[in-house]
Amino acid sequence: MIQLGRYAPATRVIAHISDTHFLGGERPLYGAVDTDSNLALALEQLERSGANPEAIVITGDLADLAEPDAYERLKAQFEPVAKRLGAQIIWVMGNHDERPEFSSAFFGAESTEPLDRVYHVGGLRIIALDSTVPGYHHGDLSPEQLDWLRAELTTPAPEGTLIALHHPPIPTPIELMAIIELQHQDAFADVIRGTDVRGILAGHLHYSTSGTFAGVPVSVASATCYAIDNSGGPGNLVGRDSGQAFNLVHVYEDSVVHTIVPMTRAPQVSGFSGVVLDVLAKMTPEERLEAFSNKHSTFNVADAEASGGS
Ligand SMILES: [Fe+2]
Ligand SMILES: [Fe+2]
Repeated sequence: MIQLGRYAPATRVIAHISDTHFLGGERPLYGAVDTDSNLALALEQLERSGANPEAIVITGDLADLAEPDAYERLKAQFEPVAKRLGAQIIWVMGNHDERPEFSSAFFGAESTEPLDRVYHVGGLRIIALDSTVPGYHHGDLSPEQLDWLRAELTTPAPEGTLIALHHPPIPTPIELMAIIELQHQDAFADVIRGTDVRGILAGHLHYSTSGTFAGVPVSVASATCYAIDNSGGPGNLVGRDSGQAFNLVHVYEDSVVHTIVPMTRAPQVSGFSGVVLDVLAKMTPEERLEAFSNKHSTFNVADAEASGGS
């Protein structure tokens, strides 16, 4: 990463993927969505991006019906990619997952307890919270979980903390999704407020969105399986095999930036190659500004001409 602007490269890069919803036997979701191919596309794009994340966080609903072979196929897709990238994988429970099958697959021992975990990426702490309620689709964090979280947060991490959980603690304009939101958010906010938590990563909504909770930025990654269409009309909940995305999280000393990466095989229509970057990198800042920012520069005249301008 070459610094050509105000900001030095991010200190940490995290990939945030959500809601893969794999079914057993490679069955298509709703008989229509090839969840395996969709995830393969996301991972292909992640590797192509050159983002080189140190961690891949998957915020829940990994399998649609918690079938063991769905979890095995997920591991078979994620693990080689993580190995090539040198990234650790942070598996987070979602309402479609079941603790026994999930813990067997990813943690090597069957458990019915909340699957909360603490991870470290250098000096950055990532806390995975299990917001699921067995037998239900809404989310919750028990008083015991909140006590555990409070105790963990007593000691700040050198680079701060990100919390990853499935149910996002922000409102949604989709009425039906509000029924299955996270409960006891006030108690959760009390635990987080005033700590070193710098961001909350979530899923569940199947569309990219963001907000704040207890003064902390919340970023929701869309799904890789299918996305909810927020233009679906009043009262409707419309899922489409289109518009899926994942996020890149760049952690800087004083900022956490969440970038949505739309999943697509659409043809490239514009842009510059890395060759241009190499040329610009050799210039002085003043030369670069003239070469790339001046509307009459060679670069910008060629760009305008490509759209029929002059
Ligand atoms: Fe989901
Ligand atoms: Fe969900």
